[in-house]
Amino acid sequence: MKLSYACRVIKLGGSVVTVKDKPMSVRHDIIKYLSSELASFLNEHPNVRLLLIHGGGSFGHFSIKKCLSSVGAIDVKCFSHTSYMMMLLNTYLVNELIEAGLTPVSIPPHTIFWKEGGKLKYELGLLKEYLAKGFTPVLYGDVIISDNVFEVLSGDTIAWVLAKELDVNEIVFVTDVDGLFDKDPKVHSDAKFIETLRAEELKDLKFSTSDYDVTGSMMLKLTEGLKYGVKDVRVRIVNGLVKGNVYKVLVGSSTVGTVVEY
Ligand SMILES: Nc1ncnc2c1ncn2[C@@H]1O[C@H](COP(=O)(O)OP(=O)(O)O)[C@@H](O)[C@H]1O
Ligand SMILES: [Mg+2]
Repeated sequence: MKLSYACRVIKLGGSVVTVKDKPMSVRHDIIKYLSSELASFLNEHPNVRLLLIHGGGSFGHFSIKKCLSSVGAIDVKCFSHTSYMMMLLNTYLVNELIEAGLTPVSIPPHTIFWKEGGKLKYELGLLKEYLAKGFTPVLYGDVIISDNVFEVLSGDTIAWVLAKELDVNEIVFVTDVDGLFDKDPKVHSDAKFIETLRAEELKDLKFSTSDYDVTGSMMLKLTEGLKYGVKDVRVRIVNGLVKGNVYKVLVGSSTVGTVVEY
């Protein structure tokens, strides 16, 4: 479905809104300036809508890791606890967005996404309605029902599904590194920064996964797009730990981050 207004999907990484290796630690100052950058952009571009998604960081990933090491799977108790933890983080973020002047509305993904026969299903009717009425929907990485078990639905996957289903042609991944490198810059000090890349070239890069991210880190972020077969989508990867970057990306500046064309 093509929307009648311009829309951007923005995924705020768990690594930006929380300190990933410290349980339940919110990055208050960063959330504050990110909220005000989003508000400035929307004030200056009243016809653009934003769809926000945030990651699990030290709330969701931490809860899942705990269940996996004690129970070995996500059981009902773990599901409740993880969805509660994610709501806590979401509530904090939504409050900051309201304080900054936005009109966010939270949409808990476990209420609109599920899996059937291994296939991801969703009901996006209400989300579209909220967007059309001028809200900024806020979703997040969450736990979902998957046939007879429970699993994690990453915020990165949600970003791609929303971009595909709503025909949005720009996704901004706000994360804790300056963009895409030929290998993980946190592991290799000689990693080379990549300014622009075509999605087909992703296979030539090296990725590593993180201890604190149960959903596959940078590689999943970018290869999910290929899996969902999106076309004409521009992905921007930007470091949200640097003040001003998100605003710059939203207004189209090419001086920060990496652009990947799908
Ligand atoms: N080739 C690469 N280029 C950039 N980052 C990479 C690469 N390979 C792995 N990474 C890692 O991916 C991380 C970002 O993904 P992730 O930890 O899932 O963040 P988020 O919390 O934003 O989802 C970075 O912190 C970085 O260490
Ligand atoms: Mg991640």
